[in-house]
Amino acid sequence: MLIGVPLETAASDTRVAVTPETAKKLMAQGHQLFVQAGAGLKASAPDAAYAAVGAEIVDAKAAFGRDLVLKVRSPSVEEIALMKRGATVVGMLNPFDHEGLERLAAAGLTSFALEAAPRTTRAQSMDVLSSQANIAGYKAVIIAADRYQKFFPMLMTAAGTVKAARVVILGVGVAGLQAIATAKRLGAVIEASDVRPSVKEQVESLGAKFIDVPYETAEEKEAAEGVGGYARPMPESWLARQRAEVAKRVAAADVVISTALIPGRPAPKLVSAEMVQSMKPGSVIVDLAAANGGNCALTQPGQTVLQHGVTIVGEMNLPALVAADASALYARNVLDFLKLILPKDAAAVHVPLDDDIVAACLMTQGGRVKRS
Ligand code: NAI
Repeated sequence: MLIGVPLETAASDTRVAVTPETAKKLMAQGHQLFVQAGAGLKASAPDAAYAAVGAEIVDAKAAFGRDLVLKVRSPSVEEIALMKRGATVVGMLNPFDHEGLERLAAAGLTSFALEAAPRTTRAQSMDVLSSQANIAGYKAVIIAADRYQKFFPMLMTAAGTVKAARVVILGVGVAGLQAIATAKRLGAVIEASDVRPSVKEQVESLGAKFIDVPYETAEEKEAAEGVGGYARPMPESWLARQRAEVAKRVAAADVVISTALIPGRPAPKLVSAEMVQSMKPGSVIVDLAAANGGNCALTQPGQTVLQHGVTIVGEMNLPALVAADASALYARNVLDFLKLILPKDAAAVHVPLDDDIVAACLMTQGGRVKRS
């Protein structure tokens, strides 16, 4: 199979879908790789590293013009124009981007969006949401620690005692859990909130305190249980009580890391302008939900702003700031997914629709959008 690996051109993306490590494995399976010049450069993988494992270094046209194209982000209109009808593209194509999927379908591409894989044990090794959210949670804390003009750990020095930073984590999925673990390693005192009751134990096992907001009605309890492990929008009654609890913790916090998301919807607003105003000057908010509108009312997606003395970081692509490891993990996710659609030495992609992972990730085929 002839496989193309283009250079990502989406704003701020530094990642690459195939690393020299996974390129070597694909070549060992009998495939030929065509890597666009500079594709891995920002992820610490120079062209020479790909050439050393036998990949050919080519221009954009030659990378996109293959039977199978491995991407990080969805191809742009210009990039789609370089692709062959009937070719296959695998990437984080955004299953909720209906217009983007229509474009892929109209170009006659078979496309797989890896974010749509089910959250099952078998799909774990190809779970791009987890591999990238894990990195985002880590980097959010590192950025917060960098912006915060005080120590994270409690320190007793000859010049006096320094108090530990108080960190509040809102939303405890994969990113939130990694944020707790990272802030803990730095010595912070941590409290965390989530709608799903099942995370309480995980929060406590990492040494943080869970902000309990008991459910008062069957409707609240049912919504909190979510669907397929994901959160559903909570009833306003519960959200109001959560806001009151979170407001108290945020006012006392030095750092807030917010990661709350509901798939396919705008991010829930958990930190109001008044709550920001109540924070101490010098506090930091890192809003991981910035790309989905933000959990904080004052977040400006893509920017870092100072509001009421509080630094609010609205970075929209945190994994891309840890480009080498984000690429290494993503590339392994891609490699594992390919095992389902690309048997050893295969000359064409297979689409076994009886495989639940393949069926869930398939977005377009035969000119039509399969899922929306
Ligand atoms: P996500 O990125 O969709 O959301 C982040 C967090 O925000 C979630 O924990 C969600 O409950 C929370 N949230 C939503 N609305 C909120 C609100 N109003 N206030 C506070 N928190 C709010 O979540 P992610 O990280 O993608 O995880 C989703 C689920 O998938 C989790 O249950 C996770 O444990 C599960 N999972 C399962 C895997 C497997 O079995 N293979 C692998 C990875 C995740």
